[in-house]
Amino acid sequence: MDWRGGRVAVLCGGWSAEREISLKSGAAVRDGLCAAGVDAYLIDAGADLLAQLIAAPPAAAFIALHGRGGEDGTLQGALEWLGIPYTGSGVKAAALAMDKLRCKQLWQGAGLPTAAFATLAADTHWAQALAALGGDVMVKPAREGSSLGMARARSAAELEAAWRAAAAYDDCVIAESWLAGPEYTVAILGDRALPAIRLEVAGEFYDYEAKYLRDDTRYHCPCGLPAAAEAELQRIALAAFASLEGRGWGRVDVMADGRGQWRLLEVNAVPGMTDHSLVPMAAKAAGLTFSELVEAILAQARCERPLRAGS
Ligand SMILES: Nc1ncnc2c1ncn2[C@@H]1O[C@H](COP(=O)(O)OP(=O)(O)O)[C@@H](O)[C@H]1O
Ligand SMILES: [Mg+2]
Repeated sequence: MDWRGGRVAVLCGGWSAEREISLKSGAAVRDGLCAAGVDAYLIDAGADLLAQLIAAPPAAAFIALHGRGGEDGTLQGALEWLGIPYTGSGVKAAALAMDKLRCKQLWQGAGLPTAAFATLAADTHWAQALAALGGDVMVKPAREGSSLGMARARSAAELEAAWRAAAAYDDCVIAESWLAGPEYTVAILGDRALPAIRLEVAGEFYDYEAKYLRDDTRYHCPCGLPAAAEAELQRIALAAFASLEGRGWGRVDVMADGRGQWRLLEVNAVPGMTDHSLVPMAAKAAGLTFSELVEAILAQARCERPLRAGS
């Protein structure tokens, strides 16, 4: 199905914890597509989203929803059913990318580097779990984003408290060995990795405030790594994305451990796309304007396995 020349719906908003960011991403994407001559319009994805798409099917959907309900495979599945080509990863890759525990298990199986980890539950022996991970950990809900529900723990009491806080976001909670850094993120466009960005945060880690509210987070692109080291980082990021069968575009977060070894943190299937976001920053370093970037992402929109003839 050729969507070119037709109307493109930019899906944003939704009801996840990242709604506000998604509204900004959506507006920026719509403006970027319009500047590229695409007939794009916004849909704030509410309960009537599917009814709207059925009543007036767009030629393609640009998914700018972050978090649950948009980045996690469920919307992708609905669009497959409706036969509407959509941007980014398909059902499986989006669902996997949303789940940090499954990603880490997959990467271990694929021989890709990720920090040691354990799942936490009410009956965890806190002191033992902490000791097994080196006495210094990051606790995170497995299926959340924007650093929500995350905390560092260096004592059994802190670990239990961090588990309790994370469990408010997800019943699956993991603890991961603390990584000294530095921290990088690698944007992926099609089958290539864009220049890596190094993140320099003023606080303990790249938390919600550092991501969206503080103005003392520094971003370095070019990232300052020697060319061979950056190429290796990009190779690992591409391999992590490919291991989920990621498609179209995405962003892979990576940190170095205390010995300078790369450790994969996570894959973002629908990263932020405001004009301050990281993927546009990397694209700019690769010579692409925001408008060219969203056009390139849209150009790869498709259904994975069309369910209906003609879609
Ligand atoms: N094991 C770790 N050690 C130290 N810092 C970490 C660790 N895991 C995550 N972080 C910090 O927390 C931030 C958010 O973690 P991440 O796994 O990317 O989840 P999110 O989906 O919330 O972005 C990272 O950008 C990094 O600054
Ligand atoms: Mg992240």
